[in-house]
Amino acid sequence: MKLRYFSHSSFQITTASGHIILIDPFLDDNPTSPIASADVTADFIVLTHAHGDHIGDAFKIAQRTNPLFICVNELANYCIEKGFRAHNMHIGGSYDFDFGRLKFTIAHHGSMTPDNSYGGEPAGVILTIDGKSLYHTGDTGLFYDMKLIGEMTSIDCMLLPIGDNFTMGITDAVKAVELTAPKLAIPMHYNTFPVIEANPYEFKKQVEAIGKKAMVMDFGAEIDI
Ligand code: NI
Ligand code: MN
Repeated sequence: MKLRYFSHSSFQITTASGHIILIDPFLDDNPTSPIASADVTADFIVLTHAHGDHIGDAFKIAQRTNPLFICVNELANYCIEKGFRAHNMHIGGSYDFDFGRLKFTIAHHGSMTPDNSYGGEPAGVILTIDGKSLYHTGDTGLFYDMKLIGEMTSIDCMLLPIGDNFTMGITDAVKAVELTAPKLAIPMHYNTFPVIEANPYEFKKQVEAIGKKAMVMDFGAEIDI
């Protein structure tokens, strides 16, 4: 699969079969995004939780491209209420979609929608596509069950926040990499706003110091997983 980073927690996955999946597309009001929502398309939109910096432009993109939303039950129902198609899931559950398998994990955070509706529990997500597993933690603090997640699924690539304040900071994120033991760790959710300023190269250095591999993706860059 190809993984493109739009900054913050926003990623685009393009599968070998040509499916396009967006995760947490926060673009137009994101000062670090290299792309406008009008310039992306999606077959599927995965939302980790309902906060404005994660729902972002999802509905704007969906009005144009009619994707299938994949979210935990309460947030999926919220998308359906807004007039969109959604697949309802919940934490711990997996499902085989056209593009591959998707599983929701726990995340320690909140999930109120921008218009103060209940968004259900916040989540992380594991996507297994083209024989590789990608773990996007969503917004979360550090939790020891990341060790269990890594034991149950061999993670090829882990996307995790380092910006602190609302989520893990660098020290906790490095511990998260140690617990989960992915083949590659990529930092996210940093430098979007002053309150989440963090140096991704400091994260990379500390991950390498524990014998693991990390990569800092430029905003707009695409890699092969
Ligand atoms: Ni959040
Ligand atoms: Mn966030």
